[in-house]
Amino acid sequence: MTGRVICFGATGYTGRLTAEVMVRAGMAPVLAGRSPEALAALTGDLAGLGPIDLPATWQVADASDPDSVRALVTSPDDVLVTTVGPFARLGRPAVDAAINAGAGYVDSTGEPAFLREVFEDDGPRAAATGARLLPAFGYDYVPGNLAGALAIEDAQAAGRAPTVVEIGYFVRGGMGMSSGTRASVAGMLDAPVFSRRNGVLTGQAGSVISFDVNGKQRDALPVGGSEHFTLPRFDPQVRDVSVGLGWAGRWTKAAHGIGTVMSTASRVPGVGAALRAGTGRVIPDETGTGPSAEDRAKARTLVVARTKDGVGRELSRAVVEGPGPYDLTAELLAWAAAMLVTGQARGAGTLGPVDAFGLHALVDGCARMGLARVE
Ligand SMILES: NC(=O)c1ccc[n+]([C@@H]2O[C@H](COP(=O)([O-])OP(=O)(O)OC[C@H]3O[C@@H](n4cnc5c(N)ncnc54)[C@H](OP(=O)(O)O)[C@@H]3O)[C@@H](O)[C@H]2O)c1
Repeated sequence: MTGRVICFGATGYTGRLTAEVMVRAGMAPVLAGRSPEALAALTGDLAGLGPIDLPATWQVADASDPDSVRALVTSPDDVLVTTVGPFARLGRPAVDAAINAGAGYVDSTGEPAFLREVFEDDGPRAAATGARLLPAFGYDYVPGNLAGALAIEDAQAAGRAPTVVEIGYFVRGGMGMSSGTRASVAGMLDAPVFSRRNGVLTGQAGSVISFDVNGKQRDALPVGGSEHFTLPRFDPQVRDVSVGLGWAGRWTKAAHGIGTVMSTASRVPGVGAALRAGTGRVIPDETGTGPSAEDRAKARTLVVARTKDGVGRELSRAVVEGPGPYDLTAELLAWAAAMLVTGQARGAGTLGPVDAFGLHALVDGCARMGLARVE
């Protein structure tokens, strides 16, 4: 490996889990963050986990000082992994730094508006410098890309042409939230939504989608995922993509009502900013907190994808199951970094998991971290 792997946000909850996976794998990451004291302490904590000849090092960078973030990425061979969120507020400097260096970039965002910006606005800029941007490379939204592509492949193998893909994200065993997830969700309440209909990305939220999960009907709240951009690349006949988050359980329909009101109101000039200021008051200041290791171990990721034809007949279904959301996110971010830094990615611009690595490498990599097809 000639490039460096930089773990920006390493002192946060998800960043620390990611740094641990990277160190154990011998990646010798550069731990980056805004506090020298926290970085020095973390470097010490991780010292025993990996090969002693490849210790982690650290470098200070603050999202409020874009030059310090740019200084993290010095070569096109570098890979910048970032968990510094909320991304709508703090994510821009890391994307720009990676594009500027023509380097690799992986993030943990689940925020639809930021994701759309990275695909639509940053993609062409990244393609021009040779940068590879892999946003939302965690629980949001890799398992849905995996299950969606497998379901499409099955329908194609049966000689059918899927035009609709619907994906539902569920968690078994409880969904505790980290400080960063709470802050990002609070910021998303009034953010613009999107869905894909008739081959076009629209600013409309889809409706609540219902899935059969282990014999029970479970509702999922519509959200903008990376699948809206990536699955039509995998199969250009796919025209409608819906992604839903199912972990709100019986509150899903009520949350959909509130979310629709908030996102509609946010399009009225001045109201979005007022709502944001309102939700800003409930965004926690703390960082680095989240479910205990014991609670994380009880959680399981379960993602369902189904394809349909143009008149709504179901053609195929794939279900993937794996570790809980935070452990899975850390494993996925570290795996993508390893694939990028060892030159195993293809293409440039903003890429989905299948675009960057191909479906078969993705299936293999996910299986190694315990995320596999169960149906
Ligand atoms: N897609 C998914 O499935 C998934 C899974 C997990 C997390 N996430 C997302 O990842 C993000 C982080 O989550 P988390 O649980 O790790 O949150 P967290 O514990 O609150 O960590 C946030 C990190 O951002 C850093 N930070 C804040 N302001 C900064 C600044 N100005 N400059 C540099 N660093 C700054 C914090 O630094 P300090 O340590 O110095 O406070 C901390 O390291 C959130 O947006 C969350 O939604 C997504």
